[in-house]
Amino acid sequence: MIKLFTIVGARPQFIKAAALSRVIGQEFSEDVKEVILHTGQHYDISLSDVFFSEMQIPEPAHNLDIGSSSHGDQTGMMIQGIEKYILMEKPDGVIVYGDTNSTLAGALAAAKLHIPVIHIEAGLRSFNKSMPEEINRITCDHVSTLLFSPTLTGIENLGKEGITHSGPGPYSFDSQGVFHSGDLMYDNTLFFREQAIQKSSLLSKLELDGKPFILVTVHRPYNTDVRENLRNIVKALNLISSEMNIPVILPLHPRTKEILKRTGDLEGSLFKDPLSHIRLIPAVSFLDMICLEAGASLILTDSGGVQKEAWFMEKPVVILREESEWVEIVEAGNGRLAGADVTRIVNASRDYLENPPQSFPSIFGNGNAAREILKVLTTTQWR
Ligand code: UD1
Repeated sequence: MIKLFTIVGARPQFIKAAALSRVIGQEFSEDVKEVILHTGQHYDISLSDVFFSEMQIPEPAHNLDIGSSSHGDQTGMMIQGIEKYILMEKPDGVIVYGDTNSTLAGALAAAKLHIPVIHIEAGLRSFNKSMPEEINRITCDHVSTLLFSPTLTGIENLGKEGITHSGPGPYSFDSQGVFHSGDLMYDNTLFFREQAIQKSSLLSKLELDGKPFILVTVHRPYNTDVRENLRNIVKALNLISSEMNIPVILPLHPRTKEILKRTGDLEGSLFKDPLSHIRLIPAVSFLDMICLEAGASLILTDSGGVQKEAWFMEKPVVILREESEWVEIVEAGNGRLAGADVTRIVNASRDYLENPPQSFPSIFGNGNAAREILKVLTTTQWR
């Protein structure tokens, strides 16, 4: 029996963990035991609990309740807490997902204890080290034993940093195993899509059933914490919604909401343009998000996960950033980088609404990423 210790903490990790835990339960329960630790990085019900209940993720055995603080504080406290529970649980391997501070803390705590780190969503790079996520990814990949990349670009990026597949194993810190697994988020979209469309009543509540609308998410610090950038994004939304006479739905991450309140922009003139149709709603659950994505004509986002979900739903995406880890989407012409620039956002949105892209080839695997990962974990030597 392999004992896996899974570290989660932030919203996108709950979503990815759901896919792996589901397949462990369905097909690998004889060979794999999973123990989950929640760092508590995300603690709001709308960012955490709702994902566990809706996606039927097993209850975490441990919760560090770390909450929000500076990067050093938050990561440091996580490392301390994770170390304690790794020593107690004595797992064969520690699974970390993506690129958040919870990922970094889990990877460092495990590697220092010489417990193999299994990094899921390895190899992604924005080549912009001012993003905390870029530092987290690079560090985590370099201390991992098994690396699962969702895309071939991820495998190439790892190769350029000297991390290459070291044959059939056994794998170790110094002889890493690099695998192209496909994307767990695609597994989830396929699994939950029908359920979401049947169960979620959000579109009818918003009176948007069958009607065109634009879906927007904004939560990255360089968009939220730089007042000019957030204002520019909202100005662009006002322009595009009034020019094209189309509603814009903006579920607010708590960080974005708090900043808009603090600067007075939530109550100020920014959202009061009489011709615009921006509608602010609270952060939504996974099923509601899938419904919004499936119903939208166009998606604008600075989230990595939402960029991919746009692709899974065959929707064009305007990326509110200057670079993307998902270069395939941009190269295919189905996503356009627009930063926080009013003209670029408006032009890209108009182009996509007038001429939506038609072709979305399969670049994120076949929906079997969880099974591929578990096959490697149960059939190769890495412990
Ligand atoms: C984190 C990840 C980011 C990921 C995002 C998904 C890092 C460095 N960043 O960003 O990669 O895309 O999660 O959502 O790990 N807050 C709440 N309630 C919560 C959690 C946060 O109100 O439950 C607010 C607090 O004001 C907090 C701020 O959001 O200070 C930032 O939270 P934090 O977890 O540090 O980063 P995210 O922006 O959520």
